[in-house]
Amino acid sequence: MRRLVALLFLVAVAPARAQIGTLLPVPTTVTPGPGRLVLDTTFRVAITKFTDDRLRRGVERAILRFEERTALEVARSVAPPTASATLRVVVDGAGDRVQSIDENESYGLEVTESGATLSAPTVVGALRGLETLLQLITSDATTRYLPAVTIRDTPRFRWRGLLVDVGRHFMPVEQVKKTIDGMAMVKLNVLHWHLSEDQGFRVESKRFPKLHQLGSDGEYYTQAELRDVVAYARDRGIRVVPEFDMPGHSTAWLVGYPQYATRRPPNGIRRAWGGADAIFDPTKEATYTFIDQFIGEMVRIFPDAYWHIGGDEVEDKHWNGNPRIVRWRRARGMRTNEELQAYFNQRLMRILRKHDRQMVGWDEILHPKVPPQTVIQSWRGTNYLRDAAKGGFNTILSAPYYLDHIKPATDFYLADPIPTTTDLTIEEQRHVLGGEACMWSEFVSYETTDSRLWPRLGAVAERLWSPQSVTDVPDMYRRLDVLAGRLEAHGFRVQSHSARMLRKLFPSGELAPLESLLTVAQPPHFGQALNGRQTTQLHPLARIVDAARPDPPARWLTERLVRQFVTNTADNISHDSLTTLMQRWRALAPTIRALAGETVAIGEAVPVADALERTSTIGLEAMQYVRSGTRPDSTWLAAAAADLKRFEQPQGLLRVSVVPEIRKLVALLQGVVQ
Ligand code: ACM
Repeated sequence: MRRLVALLFLVAVAPARAQIGTLLPVPTTVTPGPGRLVLDTTFRVAITKFTDDRLRRGVERAILRFEERTALEVARSVAPPTASATLRVVVDGAGDRVQSIDENESYGLEVTESGATLSAPTVVGALRGLETLLQLITSDATTRYLPAVTIRDTPRFRWRGLLVDVGRHFMPVEQVKKTIDGMAMVKLNVLHWHLSEDQGFRVESKRFPKLHQLGSDGEYYTQAELRDVVAYARDRGIRVVPEFDMPGHSTAWLVGYPQYATRRPPNGIRRAWGGADAIFDPTKEATYTFIDQFIGEMVRIFPDAYWHIGGDEVEDKHWNGNPRIVRWRRARGMRTNEELQAYFNQRLMRILRKHDRQMVGWDEILHPKVPPQTVIQSWRGTNYLRDAAKGGFNTILSAPYYLDHIKPATDFYLADPIPTTTDLTIEEQRHVLGGEACMWSEFVSYETTDSRLWPRLGAVAERLWSPQSVTDVPDMYRRLDVLAGRLEAHGFRVQSHSARMLRKLFPSGELAPLESLLTVAQPPHFGQALNGRQTTQLHPLARIVDAARPDPPARWLTERLVRQFVTNTADNISHDSLTTLMQRWRALAPTIRALAGETVAIGEAVPVADALERTSTIGLEAMQYVRSGTRPDSTWLAAAAADLKRFEQPQGLLRVSVVPEIRKLVALLQGVVQ
């Protein structure tokens, strides 16, 4: 009898545990309880302690999402504090008037058979908890419910950000807001808004209207829109840190205000990628007056305590190209251009201090003469994070988190801002505020951005929120898949991206072969794209490569199956699954070649389809050799190695994502050959 009860208990909790197991990011502690909280049309939410408009709006949004998720019609308004309610929200206070890096984002969530309680010291903590609660909703054949559970959750890092570059390709307000919604779903808390670039100045300035008039092609945010986005983000517990990049990456400023430039800027904004020659002139007092007045205008829109000044990619040629600047520098005893930039940054620091802002800049600005309150954002390598922390600077990690570099989620997930092997002291570790994923937009438009951000951004979000010990890659991929589904349900183009983009090229006709190809072919790395595409800002991002997705689903599936097969070559499940996959891939090439014979745009898919055909043949033959214990001849091995080496590079503009996995199958033959 006892055994039967235990068995029933297991059956009852198994699906609940499964749902708890889809939480992303993983909370600090999760303790499943017995039973579940049934959800029906009597579901009500009461706010029983502190409340304000922000909390009420947050709860009401959660109720709407609850309705969408459950299809249950429930009371949409918050119940009075004394009413009986399914969910009681118990918050101590509003939190900071302007969300700070020390805002307490922790929360506790207790779900029992009789009700749920979400408690938090601040409204932001409650918002984080509501996201967790929504992720817990599940059902079986008859009932919608929350599994009983006790969760205590607090972020590991204070600064968990996403940079979006709207300079190179503009992103409309609605897409910015959608991205903020997604960030809130995975508990990110900083939108780093890169608002000016050589290719675009995206902000309306009433004081210096030529900035947006001449610098944006009419694609800029009005001040009302900027305020609206800042308020929207605050409502979701997300800070907005604006970046106005200077002294480099500044063509779009200088087109309208050439008097502050090191040399004559071009007549219009830069269309080509890569840095421009004209940058801010650090020797002129008028430059600082201009920047001071501009920042004075903008701080009324962006209330965050931090201000990003950029500071990246200034090269000797920028300063040395102007003999007057060289003379000015030497006359002041500055030996290097780094010293000159440090001088520029000291002046910026004074301006920012006057406006009550703290300076953030890219790691090039790290210099002994830069004021110690500066925050250093590492992008060229993790060593800059280490150097900054050792130098006593607060610092943020971005180097491993460049989403536009099209790396697999694993690479982001396993890059820890403070790895267990760190040589930073405890004191130095306190300077590591967190990290930021970066979405630079040379090859990303508002239409493709969902697919470039998601679900991989979830891997960075979890790294920055969850305990350091949470590092299970297969489990991460399992939950990223759930996240992709959740996002898709909210209108994000994550999984539907490829079909939609392909439809632009082929309004009618059979998409299936190309869609299949794009489950395994992916865009090139950033540098490969730069060399391969040779395009500018004016080129439409509407080719097959834009319909492709980073880290496509078949890559991880193949990695998993190959690992299983390599571990045990007698395993039939992995053998048969890999065989089916590769046979399917091999069969795509003739179809795609035939389609290309009819439609010019499909021609771009042919080289990668051919490469996939050959890669699959190598994989299939390698498994046959392994299974039969037969020795491939040296010609076969040499040809396989040469082809796989070639296929590491993009074929046309696409890469076969599974080449490293097929190489592992070939490597098995080393044992057979010897
Ligand atoms: C950067 O990627 N230039 C900061």
